Amino acid sequence: MKQGELVYAGKAKSLYRTDVPGQLYVHFRDDITAFDGGKKDVLSRKGNLNARVSAKIFSLLEEHGIPTHFVRMEGDAAMIVRDLRMIPLEVIVRNIAAGSITRNYPVPEGTAFDPPVIVIDYKDDARHDPMLNDDIIVTALRLLSRDQLAEVKALALRVNAVLQRFLAGVGITLVDFKLEFGWDGDRIVVGDEISMDSMRLWDTATGTSLDKDVYRFGKGDVLAVYREVAARALPGGEQK
Ligand code: C5P
Repeated sequence: MKQGELVYAGKAKSLYRTDVPGQLYVHFRDDITAFDGGKKDVLSRKGNLNARVSAKIFSLLEEHGIPTHFVRMEGDAAMIVRDLRMIPLEVIVRNIAAGSITRNYPVPEGTAFDPPVIVIDYKDDARHDPMLNDDIIVTALRLLSRDQLAEVKALALRVNAVLQRFLAGVGITLVDFKLEFGWDGDRIVVGDEISMDSMRLWDTATGTSLDKDVYRFGKGDVLAVYREVAARALPGGEQK
């Protein structure tokens, strides 16, 4: 497959056209950023780790009948995906209180949510991704109908159930994570990535962070924890 023209470069991934219509090549770069790009670094092999964990998770979701954009892994740090019409939402599922919900509301860190709490933000860096509600999504921004929004939330909860069970099996507690969705024809499917950059993970035995919080808050060697997640989550482990 030929890597064609650059379509879009985000903070950690670059999207290219391919010679197959409707399919894109997503390169997971070694860049890591936090705080709306306010903190930036390059970590050798980070793109490889996130690409492989993301590919594993997308495959797992597909096995459970959850539609995603994933086609296949390509090379070392890239995947082929279906070209979606992205919906500019960040759909966050929270099983345990941590991060912004504990800063913005009087909810102590570690509070378990049952059912999980879904928070939806508007994906717009310039506006700092403001939080939405159903009426803003449906009536003000006309991004989705009420039924489509219900479908997005139901898909997010299904993803949560699959991920929670998979990660629990390797000693990892899924605290929260962010999904993005897009249109594949007339179907809503899971897009973007699902990786240590977009999930909040705690080691079940020790409670230590195994995700981008290690980078955000200078809690240690972020590459070492990304490698640890890959080693637990991937057959064949970290060494690739
Ligand atoms: O910062 P906050 O606590 O709201 O993040 C919730 C979850 O969503 C975290 O797992 C975080 O990594 C993820 N997230 C993301 N991209 C954003 C905002 C949050 O992946 N732009």
